[in-house]
Amino acid sequence: MRAWNMVYSTIRTQVNRPGLSYSSALLAAIFFSIAAASSAPRVEITTPSTNSIVDAGNIFIGAKTSDRDGSIAAVEFYETDRKIGECFTKPFNTIWSNVPPGVYTLTARAIDKAGGSATSEAVRIDARTPLPSALIRGPYLQVGTPYSMVIRWRTDVPAGSKVTYGIGGHLTQAVESAEQVVDHAVKLSNLRPDTRYYYSVGSPSGILASGFEYFLTTSPVVEKHTRIWAIGDSGTASADARSVWEAYRDFTGGRLTDVWLMLGDNAYYSGTDPEYQRAVFDMYPGILRQTAVWPTRGNHDASSAYHDIFTLPTKGEAGGTPSGTEHYYSFDYSNIHFICLDSSFSVRRRDGAMCTWLRADLAANFKEWVIAYWHHPPYSKGSHDSDWERELVEMREEVVPILEEFGVDLVLSGHSHCYERSFLLRGHYGLSTTLAPSMLLNTASGRFEDGGPYLKATAGLDAHQGTVYVVAGSSGWATFGSMDHPAMFASFLVMGSLILDVEGPVLNATFLTKDGTVDDYFSILKDTSEFRLRSLHRAGRQLILTWDSIPGKRYQIEYSLQAEPPRWTTYSGSIQSSGHRTTWIDYSAPDRPKAIYRVRELE
Ligand SMILES: [Fe+2]
Repeated sequence: MRAWNMVYSTIRTQVNRPGLSYSSALLAAIFFSIAAASSAPRVEITTPSTNSIVDAGNIFIGAKTSDRDGSIAAVEFYETDRKIGECFTKPFNTIWSNVPPGVYTLTARAIDKAGGSATSEAVRIDARTPLPSALIRGPYLQVGTPYSMVIRWRTDVPAGSKVTYGIGGHLTQAVESAEQVVDHAVKLSNLRPDTRYYYSVGSPSGILASGFEYFLTTSPVVEKHTRIWAIGDSGTASADARSVWEAYRDFTGGRLTDVWLMLGDNAYYSGTDPEYQRAVFDMYPGILRQTAVWPTRGNHDASSAYHDIFTLPTKGEAGGTPSGTEHYYSFDYSNIHFICLDSSFSVRRRDGAMCTWLRADLAANFKEWVIAYWHHPPYSKGSHDSDWERELVEMREEVVPILEEFGVDLVLSGHSHCYERSFLLRGHYGLSTTLAPSMLLNTASGRFEDGGPYLKATAGLDAHQGTVYVVAGSSGWATFGSMDHPAMFASFLVMGSLILDVEGPVLNATFLTKDGTVDDYFSILKDTSEFRLRSLHRAGRQLILTWDSIPGKRYQIEYSLQAEPPRWTTYSGSIQSSGHRTTWIDYSAPDRPKAIYRVRELE
């Protein structure tokens, strides 16, 4: 205070002296010079910078000071009004320890040896959970629908979750959670159907995985060529299991897998979490991040880890009737209805909860194809025998009649470590010795060049047109068996996997061995000779119609705004068909909430 008094006195003296009025600027300069030499110290926080995101935990805070007489005695550090550290020597800094995630306001206060002090400008920081050091599982995709996808992954330490995503590599959208977990599950919603989204996973403080191979594709709402990969008893984590995967990877090349089915015994011997890590997550990291996997539970998936690892639909999220349980469920993809049953741990009786749900689900289905899968095969003479093993017998006696009643096309199983593929079967619910010629609807190979594909009239209720049963349980090993079930067209003790390609009314199946050879193939063809409108779908402003067609024929769409009597108005121009299934889309369809549509075959 003495210095201030002296300056003030000097000024007064000078301005009061006659003839020195010109010196006011000079006086001001003198004033400031003297005042600076005697002022309080200056201090600012240099680390962290304001509005920065920092790791929670231990936060380093550094300050820079200046003082004309160089006599800073101490710097104190504050979070709002709470003192969090102090330092008595240069460089002035401190470590603020055990800081939980949150937004904080920091200041530093410098004190000089004369007792003067100054406080820095406030620095605002956002302390977040540090980025985990490692991504140790995934990411992997679950419950794909036309409008949503669940992305899961595991980190080595608890952390928040964040997925950024977008179309065409621009990850402009994000979903995040501050909840500290090691097993992360983020659902992306409001996506566009049949669209590729690139994504990254991480925590709010950083990215753990991203790149051109991190993308998902939403399910279509209209028919689309669909590739399905089915593996059974794959969980050996062996070099041979890897060969099965690599053979498929080479086979499919750049063709993405749309639907991936696991037929049970996905991780030997008990389905524990470490076993799943070795047999699934360390085995298939590439496809896991691009294709949603839809597993069923085998007898070896006994550990409760199964339900911790997989997110499965219980509410009909992906189509089908809500099952209320992850043990069994259904979903739709393109024109296919998939049904996953639990032959291992659920009641198999026809009056049990699973079969009760199954009936309801099948009754509500309107998709053209029905593919059902579970672990224990209804027909097998491989390493398991369907004539006397309880699960196999019950699935055949209790469940298969329901499926056939509703026109199931294909049933996939594992459990027997082999490949077995039936003829087109109907009504064979007893022992293998009771197989009668009337139960074999087609005794040929099911191949286009060899008697033609298995032909089925229609799908839907009471469509007893036959079913093909495949045991594809050799994706992890091929063991033993008599391999002589009379319902089978093909029975091999060979390792491999099953590939299905469904395109409109055609289903092509291929058994690909671990060596990359095709040891069996067959086709099922839906009879499209009946001219019919297959589907009518509205997606935003798009109106999409699909009908069975004759290649080369011309068609026209018409609509009527009233039912009785209809007054047909031409809607489309002439549409020439190039195949047995034609889809026509109006990309900006007018809003006609009560219109009726029809397809007319032109002469
Ligand atoms: Fe099994």
